[in-house]
Order: sequence, then C-alpha cells, then structure tokens
Amino acid sequence: DGFPAGRLFSQGVSYTYDDVILLPHYIDFPADAVDLSTRLSRRVPLSIPCVASPMDTVSEAAMAVAMATLGGAAVVHGNASPAHQAAIIRSAKSRRIPLVTDPAFFSPSDRIAYDTDFNSAPYALVTESGTTKSRAVGVVAWSDWESLADKNVPVSEYMRPARASAPASCDFEQVAAFLAGEGLEYAPLVAEDGEVVDLVTAEQVQMIRSFPKLGVPSVGPDGRFLVGAAIGTREEDKERLEHLVKAGANVVVVDSSQGNSIYQIDMIKYAKNRYPGLDVIGGNVVTIAQAQNLIKAGVDGLRVGMGSGSICTTQEVCAVGRGQATAVYKVASFAKDHDVPVIADGGIANSGHIVKALVLGASTVMMGSFLAGSHEAPGVFEYQNGRRVKKYRGMGSLEAMTKGSDARYLGDTLKLKVAQGVVGAVADKGSILKFIPYTMQAVKQGFQDLGVSSLQSAHNLLQSEVLRLEIFSPPSPFQREMGYMVKNLLTLSS
Ligand code: XMP
Repeated sequence: DGFPAGRLFSQGVSYTYDDVILLPHYIDFPADAVDLSTRLSRRVPLSIPCVASPMDTVSEAAMAVAMATLGGAAVVHGNASPAHQAAIIRSAKSRRIPLVTDPAFFSPSDRIAYDTDFNSAPYALVTESGTTKSRAVGVVAWSDWESLADKNVPVSEYMRPARASAPASCDFEQVAAFLAGEGLEYAPLVAEDGEVVDLVTAEQVQMIRSFPKLGVPSVGPDGRFLVGAAIGTREEDKERLEHLVKAGANVVVVDSSQGNSIYQIDMIKYAKNRYPGLDVIGGNVVTIAQAQNLIKAGVDGLRVGMGSGSICTTQEVCAVGRGQATAVYKVASFAKDHDVPVIADGGIANSGHIVKALVLGASTVMMGSFLAGSHEAPGVFEYQNGRRVKKYRGMGSLEAMTKGSDARYLGDTLKLKVAQGVVGAVADKGSILKFIPYTMQAVKQGFQDLGVSSLQSAHNLLQSEVLRLEIFSPPSPFQREMGYMVKNLLTLSS
C-alpha cells in the first residue's frame, strides 16, 4: 500500500509538502505520549522542533525569548551592524521571563502625538530624562492616551505613577509574586546598574498563566535562554562572529541561499577552528552533494530549502531549487549517517507541513511567515483594509537588501541587485506563546495517526519502509479558492 519514501523520491520528480500525503498507521498510545524533543544541531537539544528564521521581520529579542521559553529557538538575523545584532542577543540573554514588551520611553514633559509612538505596546514608560538610563517615574497606558480629548498636554498630566520597580533578574514566578504582593497592575523592570529594561503588567502575567504549558525551556550552558545568531560569509563576518560569541550566542547559522560555496566552507572551517565549543549550522542545501561538502567542512547542522519559502522567488528568478519534501528527505537520509541534524527551512504554512517535514527526516522546522505577524515579531502593527498586519519580507527582497542582506544572495560584488524575494504583510496572529502550543498539539496528533511516538521512531519507520506515502494530486485553482473561502468564513465565525 502506498510507496516507501526511498522509491517515491527517486523517480526524478521534485515534490513539495502539498504534493505528498502520509498514510496512517497503527495507534497504541495517546497523543500526549508523543515526545517531540529533538536537536537543533549536534550538541544543542530542544524540547520542541521549532526554530524562528534569521529574518529581520521575524527574529529579534522578543522572538528569541519566547521561542526559548517554549523549548524551541530563534536565530537572530544579521541584517544589522555587528554591534546591533550583539545588542539584540544580549537583550534576549538578559531576560528571565518570557516577555519583551519593548515599550517606548518618554519624559514627563513630552507630548505624545501619534498612536505609533507606542511601538504597538499597550503601555509606554516614563523616566526622568525619557531614556532607559534614568529613574522610572510612571507609566502611560495607551487607553488613557487614546481617551484624551486634547492630546497636546504633557505626559505628566495623565501618566500613572510607578510605585515600585521589580529587579530584572527576577524569573516569571518571582515577578508574578512581586506584582501580586505589592498589589500592582504594572512595574518597570530595572537592571542591577539602574537601567530600566522593560515593563511587566499583571495582565501579561495572567495571559501567560492562561497559555498551555509546553516542554522545558531552551537554556544554554550559561544558564540563560538559548539564542542562535546568523552570520554571512564575507571576511568581515569573522569580526561579527566574535561580537556574537562575546554576546553569548549559543549556536551560529552561516546564512546563504546556496550554501555549497568556497566562501561558506572557509567560514565553517574558520568558525569551528576558532570556537571549537560552538555549534555551527551550514546551508542552505537541497542535494546530497551539497550536504556532503558542508559535512566535510565540519558543520553541526544543515539548513535545507531553496526557493521553498513563502516570500521566495529564487526558483522563478534563478531556476534553481528543489521541491521541499524531496529536498528534506534526500538530505536527511544522507545527513543521519553523519549524525548531523537537518532543519527543514521554509514553506511551513500549517501543522501538517511540520508533520511531513519531521517524518521525512528533519529534526526541526525553521519558520518565517508562520511566526511573522505575531506579537513577538519585530515591527509595529499597521492597518491594511481594516486588518491589523505586520510587515513580513524576504531577505532577498530589494527592500531588505538595501539594508545589507545582499551577502546572503552573493550580490555583494555585483553592481546590479536582483531581487529574490518579496515584501508582504501578515495578519495579527497574537502571541506565539499561545499558538505554538496548539500547533504542537496538532503535530502530536499527526504523529499519533502515523503510530509514531517520537521523531526518532518516525525516522526509523520511514527508512524501514513501514511508513508509506502517496502522491497527493494538488487541488485545482477553483478548489483552492473554495478552500480559502471556507477557511476565511471559519476564521470569521470562530
Ligand atoms: P517561510 O515559508 O517560512 O520561509 O516564510 C522562510 C525562509 O525563506 C528563506 N528566505 C528567502 N528565500 N528569497 C528567497 O528565495 C528571500 O527573499 C528570502 N528570505 C528568506 C529563508 O530560508 C527563510 O528561513
């Protein structure tokens, strides 16, 4: 019944996730017994197989902290100066609670003219000088500002006083106890050196308590949240790497759209030699030959995918790439013999895609659009046709490359920049602390239907041909349109 993966994927056809379907098997355990724990790279364990992509509209401090809280990880993007990227890592590493509110700062004499001055946060902080380096004196609630008839008044006239501050070194339970004990609705978080780093509210504490619990948070050997970082393959990226390691990055990803290059191989060798304790992930690759070269260079993990991302146009522009299901299966079947975990990167639009990627041999999935539009994604919410959205853009889009990410597409020596990605927007999805646990529950149910209770047993059963697949004829454009309409109606009515 159906095809063994080895046969299906060796017929000269490139399959995407939607082209294949897994045949159900035998269930003899509850869905909750499914263990999704895994490895990001050789020496980096995770309790859920989710990784946030190094993109400037996805992974900064708030995403890193939330992903680590959930037991996954984020790779902080490198489309910033080395000092700025290191500061993002330091900010994530300094947190002990799964929150980064990132409020705006004002002084008591400031006037707030625009909604956007709030950075999409429900509160802003008021300090004596309006900077993080002076004493916190109050908090401005967006709702208080919104109801002002005359907005041209100083903040001091309507701010709420900050009665007490919580030490930034507190963990979540300590902060919750502090707010409850003092009867506070909110408190600034203050570092040991007196810098005001953030704000916590009783509402946020309640919200986090109401979210389903997931696995063990990802913590590095330093006892702090695990954070990854992306580097490029230019000579100056060696200096960037030093900044990132000093800032506490636990794993680095050499970020190239086509990873099988002399530039990447040199960078991997350099990084492994200079920092033997650091796991280095290479990519992107989609073929065994590419993977072989990077494994020979010493990578601890492989990122798989070319042109499979939602914002990618590489396959259209350069005519190069591979269907993601085929790419993951091929590379993972080879990499497993070298004990190198595979990250299935791009093209994840639903929990079913995650199940397929993991069963086909990936150890984790890397996501961009799935996490964009969340509260934890960088950027501010905007309104488009009445919908609250956040920007999401390909790192190969002209807009992102203007900021420096062209090295990922080896465009640095060329005078002409050719876009390999687009800019778009993603609807407000709420907090990943809420929707990732639901997504993982759906993945567990998929595993249960297949009769596999862990990633390892899925990989074993696929290789031993117990698990089988079939080609799933893709829906016609009309069926797809109808499907979207039904989905929209369901979303609207739920
Ligand atoms: P998803 O589907 O999760 O994909 O949004 C995220 C992945 O897409 C890759 N990426 C790009 N690929 N042009 C490309 O061809 C781009 O501009 C671009 N930006 C990101 C990247 O691998 C990411 O993790």
